[in-house]
Amino acid sequence: MNSVEIFALSDSYIAPTYNRFPLALVKGAGVKVWDADGNEYLDCLAGIAVCNLGHCHPQVSAAISEQARQLMHVSNLYHIEPQAQLAEILCEFSFAEKVFFCNSGAEANEAAIKLARRYGDAVLGAGRTRIITMQDSFHGRTMATLTATGQQKVKTGYQPLLEGFDCVPFNNIDAVAAAITDKTCAVLVEPVQGEGGVIVPDADYLERLRQLCDEHKILLILDEVQTGIGRTGKFFAYQHSNVAPDILTSAKALGNGFPIGAMLASDQVLTHFGHGSHASTFGGNPLASAASLATIRTLRDEKIIDKVGEKGAFLVAGLKKLQTEFPEIIGAIRGLGLMVGMDIKVPVGDIVKACLEKYLLVGSAGANTLRLTPPLVIEKAEIETLLRILTEVFSDVRKA
Ligand SMILES: Cc1ncc(COP(=O)(O)O)c(C=O)c1O
Repeated sequence: MNSVEIFALSDSYIAPTYNRFPLALVKGAGVKVWDADGNEYLDCLAGIAVCNLGHCHPQVSAAISEQARQLMHVSNLYHIEPQAQLAEILCEFSFAEKVFFCNSGAEANEAAIKLARRYGDAVLGAGRTRIITMQDSFHGRTMATLTATGQQKVKTGYQPLLEGFDCVPFNNIDAVAAAITDKTCAVLVEPVQGEGGVIVPDADYLERLRQLCDEHKILLILDEVQTGIGRTGKFFAYQHSNVAPDILTSAKALGNGFPIGAMLASDQVLTHFGHGSHASTFGGNPLASAASLATIRTLRDEKIIDKVGEKGAFLVAGLKKLQTEFPEIIGAIRGLGLMVGMDIKVPVGDIVKACLEKYLLVGSAGANTLRLTPPLVIEKAEIETLLRILTEVFSDVRKA
């Protein structure tokens, strides 16, 4: 089918929840993707921080093909070799001692919310199940995770919401301290807010949150769905600090495009998820686990995360040059590693569309932020291409 035929079929049969761009991608390799008419694009969104190894990384594709021929799915009623190996490597790369697998970021956060409630009730005292969350956060679209999300737009029309969440401003320790009561069991926070507009908190924010949680004996839950798997220059973003969470959620890049989510925790916390307390039919099935295992082994063996800081700095330096060139268009620039946001003073949707017309895929986040989350394997020359196209787009805006 050509692009126009795909758009028509999609518009006829797909639920209207997404406001889609007129683009139908059919092929990918590394940082490049191709549409159904053969046009090539530079992908600096990577499926929103998913394809960290680039599209169709040979090792990941090979692992999926091999596993698909051997065994795709069995129930979690049985032991699954690649799932156990994946859990082992995730624990090696983090504070965690055990892992629960699911299929998405929202499900990982659902699991974390459920576990925190069980832990609170059992360990802290009956009814200690409230969770402190942050304004402008994003945790998913299920009923619990949209309630936890600190953005009104995802909640509209879905009342009644769940009980048990207290929302405070992000990057404000005093607000968290003031919100803790004898009903609080946990604090849920993104180390860098993604959907909220790529908001990087103060350097000591996590450490101070950890301190506060320790003082009150409550759990620190980090949503690393977007920041994890090398995106910010460490395997998990909390590793930029000297502290660790009690529970961590992961998804997005965990399978480099194959759907898989995970909730990581210490043994002591996970004992409260006993037999029958939670489950997922597909969570960590052989195919998803093989894809994820190959993703993480490749990141490790090719030392890809080691170069993320330098690439991010190169990108941000280029954007800052653009900012001095186009001060009437570009506002603040924020980022950690290759998770970068740039505030735009004209409607950001127009910039995203103009980039698309020049065969560059970028995203938006927050109120008016251009979001760049390219594959971590992006080369300097490709970052230069990205900067060149952005320069052309901003020059066109100035002329208009
Ligand atoms: C920080 C964070 N948490 C959770 C989610 C939800 O993940 P999913 O769309 O896989 O359910 C997202 C998705 O953007 C996210 O950025």
